[in-house]
Amino acid sequence: MNRRYRKTVIAGNWKMNKNAADAKSFISELKSSVRGKWCEVVLCVPFTAIPAAVKTAKGSRIDIGAQNCHFAPEGAYTGEISCAMLAEAGVKYVVIGHSERRRDFGESDRTVNLKAHAALDAGLRPIICVGESAEMRETGITLDVIRAQVKSALKDITADRVRRTVIAYEPIWAIGTGDTATAEQADEVNRAIRECLRQLYGARVARSISILYGGSVTPKNAYELFAMPDIDGGLVGGASLDRAAFEEIINAADQ
Ligand code: PGA
Repeated sequence: MNRRYRKTVIAGNWKMNKNAADAKSFISELKSSVRGKWCEVVLCVPFTAIPAAVKTAKGSRIDIGAQNCHFAPEGAYTGEISCAMLAEAGVKYVVIGHSERRRDFGESDRTVNLKAHAALDAGLRPIICVGESAEMRETGITLDVIRAQVKSALKDITADRVRRTVIAYEPIWAIGTGDTATAEQADEVNRAIRECLRQLYGARVARSISILYGGSVTPKNAYELFAMPDIDGGLVGGASLDRAAFEEIINAADQ
């Protein structure tokens, strides 16, 4: 991480876990332990837990995120939720293009780009996920795949707006598997993402954007990961469900 130029962000991704009551008790306890921390703490909770999470986090350092959104402002999209609805509910961040959504719900580079625009239009900060499969890594095309994902996710997003985005590198083979990328592997990809941002937007903008790592982040590996120059925090799945583990990861980012 590089505190001089950009924010460190620790974002928990609860996925389809925990209800409103759980969110209330988790956040009430987390609130006091994050007081005085300088990193940004985000909890991306299920839609139904958003009102309770926002209410409980009010006045604290914790921001609430959603895990998905629709790209249209409104309309006949049964079952979907727009970015404006999320913003109205007090949400500040939204995860876009998580590999589980790309794999199971038809999310594509094109919808990721549309959703990123929609999130920015609504004043939300998109957390855009990119990542390669194990096969892609084995065939040596990781950096090309990641660069292509970043470029298409950011298509037509202007330099002043891109500053509000966060990028999360999440190798698919590391998510929920316990098989974390080494700090060097993760930093190599994050550095390539920053270089791609530099080509698109120039050095100043590139160095101001937080690029996270996600995929089996735990209290054990967090210190080593966050010590790397281009890893500006984490998108944490499993370990964010346990308050003590999540707190320890926040502490690792706060060094
Ligand atoms: P994990 O999930 O930490 O459980 O591997 C990360 C993610 O899916 O964002």
